[in-house]
Amino acid sequence: MIELQPSDRGCCRPVLERLEAQDIRLPFQCRSGYCGACRVKRVSGEVEYLLEPLAFFREDEILPCCCVAKGKLTLKRWR
Ligand code: FES
Repeated sequence: MIELQPSDRGCCRPVLERLEAQDIRLPFQCRSGYCGACRVKRVSGEVEYLLEPLAFFREDEILPCCCVAKGKLTLKRWR
């Protein structure tokens, strides 16, 4: 499991960038919602997309490269 705590300083940074700042690495390619390479399962918490993602993802998944966390977020790695 990966937990991302609410943060004043990191509130506007994409989830992927915040995880990288904590040395948590997820796969990625486009970093803009096109490819789906960063797709990860959302266990709990809400996100808001900074741009309309074009890649396919399920209701219980997020694309961390192009969304911000709205409070505490818990994710589960696929790989
Ligand atoms: S890295 Fe391509 S959709 Fe996130």
